[in-house]
Amino acid sequence: MNTQKSGRFITIEGIEGVGKTTNIEFVRQWLAERGIEVIMTREPGGTPLAEELRALLLSPRDEEVSHDTELLLMFAARAQHLNQVIKPALQRGAWVLCDRFTDATYAYQGGGRGLDTTPIETLEQLVQQGLNPDLTLLLDLPVEVGLQRANQRSAPDRFEQEKQAFFERVRAAYLERAQNAPQRFRIIDAEPALAQVQRQIATVLGEFLEAHR
Ligand code: TMP
Repeated sequence: MNTQKSGRFITIEGIEGVGKTTNIEFVRQWLAERGIEVIMTREPGGTPLAEELRALLLSPRDEEVSHDTELLLMFAARAQHLNQVIKPALQRGAWVLCDRFTDATYAYQGGGRGLDTTPIETLEQLVQQGLNPDLTLLLDLPVEVGLQRANQRSAPDRFEQEKQAFFERVRAAYLERAQNAPQRFRIIDAEPALAQVQRQIATVLGEFLEAHR
């Protein structure tokens, strides 16, 4: 845990179609009902500039985007978001609930695109300087189920246009990170009905609150 902060930092991760949007709202409400001030935000994005970078990153384009460009834009957005939103909120004691963070970079740019983890670690150190999530909920389900759910939505963005094999690598990278940091990660089985998924999430939050309040 980082000494410069007093609020807690919770992130939600997973491939497309796992139900992040619905479940992050469930987490926000669960915490708010217990009197906790919660800031809900997302990556890439969370500030006007970072949202502009998000639009650049997600919009499909004819020009090929190099993997290094994508990585640097992700961390550029993250640097802005951390400095403008996340750090100030944590410092005044609010809890920050973030839809994706650096684990997504390891999963998508590392696992999905096949980038080496060394430059990711270097940028992580430069931008975060040791500020990491206290708890990460990894919503997990088989890729074909997630993609089927995601396909029912609007036109695919630049990542959603990727093939199933890409998302298999993303999922594997997420699961590997979760296995390597069991004290921070909780894997939530996102396949069953929503009520059952949310029961798992509530159990995790209850334990976390008990340990960290
Ligand atoms: P979203 O659709 O869940 O809001 O996420 C936007 C996309 O950005 C999603 O396909 C995953 C991708 N992404 C990365 O590739 N690397 C990152 O570091 C982050 C935060 C997101």
